[in-house]
Amino acid sequence: MTDTLLGIETSCDETAAAVVDDGRTVRSSIVSSQVDLHARYGGVVPEIASRAHVELIGPVLAEALEHAGTGLADVDAVAACRGPGLAGALLVGVSAAKALALVADIPYVGVNHLEAHLYAAWLEEPDLEPPLAVLVASGGHTLLVVMEAHGRYRIVGQTVDDAAGEAFDKVARHLGLGYPGGPAIDALARTGDPHAVPFPRAMPDQPNFSYAGLKTAVVNHVRQHPDQPVADVAASFQAAAVDQLVDKLAAAADAAHAPTLVLGGGVAANTELRARVRALADDTGRRAFLPAPRLCTDNAAMIAAAGWWRWHADGPSPLDDGVDPTLGLPATG
Ligand code: KG4
Ligand code: ZN
Repeated sequence: MTDTLLGIETSCDETAAAVVDDGRTVRSSIVSSQVDLHARYGGVVPEIASRAHVELIGPVLAEALEHAGTGLADVDAVAACRGPGLAGALLVGVSAAKALALVADIPYVGVNHLEAHLYAAWLEEPDLEPPLAVLVASGGHTLLVVMEAHGRYRIVGQTVDDAAGEAFDKVARHLGLGYPGGPAIDALARTGDPHAVPFPRAMPDQPNFSYAGLKTAVVNHVRQHPDQPVADVAASFQAAAVDQLVDKLAAAADAAHAPTLVLGGGVAANTELRARVRALADDTGRRAFLPAPRLCTDNAAMIAAAGWWRWHADGPSPLDDGVDPTLGLPATG
């Protein structure tokens, strides 16, 4: 029998809803981005995000059900992201999910946003089997995880300062490329020379990441060389940022003897990172699973996917389970 889950994601500046069967088959996935609302401030403004979620959640949910050709009566459980993220933003999605669960008399499942980024890979590769070496790189997190089995995660490395996506966003802002910075740098870097500036590769022999020094190096370089083409600076920054991600992923996969590499999080949409991880897999006889960019950035299909696995492992979440803005990945060792 098929389980149909309605997933809801409102942890940051995307209001998203999706209908997914058995944690694998996406029947609809609606993402309403608030980027335009926040761009003029150069980053996400929490209060504006919460208000926009309140306005958008109803229409986005209706659209997700309509696109899937279904109604609430045919949904078996509703899953919502309960953290990590912005408290007010999370509350909108979780409250909507609980209300729908009560109205339809179906289970509610609270989902960890980081675990959901991991499960995005199952939406395109239903037969994926652990152990996996997974890199989750987003605007708020940079995590290197060995997934030993479903629900069993060993955190191998994480950032000691800025997240990778945060570094893309801050450097883009400094280079006058606007918000969000990742896609802007990705596009501009294609026309630049990645060897133009030898930016530092932080902490090469350690599993943890660091991006604050790289960001400062870019700021200092631009101050000292105002005439250098911005495309060269962007390409050189991206090369340093991606090198760090790929080198540590390679070391983690070696140490864990993981035959499969997986990417997740918004930065996993980066063209150069995807090419480098594919090359790493080819060179080392591994398989690489890189979810489509629309599944790497925040979406609700990944929430429904992770929610399905959690529901089957742990059962429904209690309705008095609140949001948790600082929720971490449930590590097992
Ligand atoms: O996972 P996500 O959508 O939201 C968070 O959970 O943070 O990630 C958003 C981050 C932003 O920092 C954005 O600049 C970055 O992912 N990003 C990219 C690309 N697309 C999005 N970074 C590098 N290259 C991209 N193509
Ligand atoms: Zn995310």
